[in-house]
Amino acid sequence: MTAPIISVRSLDVHYGSVTALHDVSFDIAPNEITGLIGASGSGKSTFLRSLNRMLDHLPTVRMGGTITIGGENILHEKTDVVRLRRRVGMVFQNPTPFPKSVFDNVAYGLEIQGIRNPRKSFLSLTRLRIQHQELEASDDPIDQAVVRSLKEAALWEEVKHRLHHSAYRLSGGQQQRLCIARAIAIRPDILLLDEPCSSLDPLSTRCIEQLLLGLKKDYTILIVTHNLQQARRIADHVGFFHTGELVEFGTAKEIFGGPGKTLTREYVEGAFG
Ligand SMILES: Nc1ncnc2c1ncn2[C@@H]1O[C@H](COP(=O)(O)OP(=O)(O)OP(=O)(O)O)[C@@H](O)[C@H]1O
Ligand SMILES: [Mg+2]
Repeated sequence: MTAPIISVRSLDVHYGSVTALHDVSFDIAPNEITGLIGASGSGKSTFLRSLNRMLDHLPTVRMGGTITIGGENILHEKTDVVRLRRRVGMVFQNPTPFPKSVFDNVAYGLEIQGIRNPRKSFLSLTRLRIQHQELEASDDPIDQAVVRSLKEAALWEEVKHRLHHSAYRLSGGQQQRLCIARAIAIRPDILLLDEPCSSLDPLSTRCIEQLLLGLKKDYTILIVTHNLQQARRIADHVGFFHTGELVEFGTAKEIFGGPGKTLTREYVEGAFG
C-alpha cells in the first residue's frame, strides 16, 4: 500500500454514555475511494464526522485515540479546525444548497476561506448578463474556481446558461453535484460523502458514481453508503462497521468476494441490516 493519507489508531467516540465507535484502527490510501458500510447505528457517520472534527460542537462527545492526516494528529486540541476543514470537505445525505444562485453557491466556499472577488459581485454582473464564455475566459480567481469546480463536478454544461438562477431550481441530482462542486472549489485533499445518493434516482446516482470515479485522481474519497452494489461498483477498499467496531477492512473484491469474517459475509449477503 502506498503511504496512507489517513491513519486511524484506537479511535473511540462516546456520546455521553453511548459508545458510538470503539477501538477503530485502519489506514486509508490517497486517491482511492473507500466505502464505509454497515447497518444503521453502526457508527459510519460518527466516523466520517470525526475526520473533520464535526462533532466538536456536541457538549457530551468524548474522543480517544488518534487520527493522523498528512502527518498531524487532528484530534489534538491545538489543531486548527478551520484549516483542517479546508483539507477535508464534506457532502451530506440530502443536497444542501444555500438559497443563493448556482454561481454564488460555489463561490461561497471560497469567500468564507477569505478569497475575495476583487471585482463587482457576480450578482451585479448577472444584471449585466455576463455570458458563460466571458466567465470561462475570466482571470478572476473566484470565477476560475467556480468554472473549474462546476466542470469537475460534471455540472457545467447543464448550468452554464443559468448560473444566476436559484440553486433550488436544479434537480436533486444536480443539487448534489452542486454541493460536490462547492466542496471541491477550495481544493480539499479529502472528500467525505455521507450517503450522497440516498435521495436520488438511479440515473442521478449513476451520474454521481461516475463523477466520483473521475474525481479520485485528484482527491481521496470516503463514502458512506447503504447501497452495497454502489460500494462494490466504485470502492477500492471497503470498511464494514458493526455496533461501533470496524469488523473488517479490505479491498472491495475481498469484502464482497470472500470476506474473512462471518459477520461481514452475513451483512454483504443481506442477512441483516
Ligand atoms: N448526537 C448524538 N447524540 C447521541 N448519540 C448519538 C448521536 N449521534 C449518533 N449517536 C449514536 O451513535 C451511534 C452511531 O450513530 P451513527 O449516526 O454514527 O450511525 P450510522 O452508522 O451513521 O447510522 P445510519 O446508517 O442510520 O446513518 C448510534 O447508537 C447513535 O444512536
Ligand atoms: Mg449515518
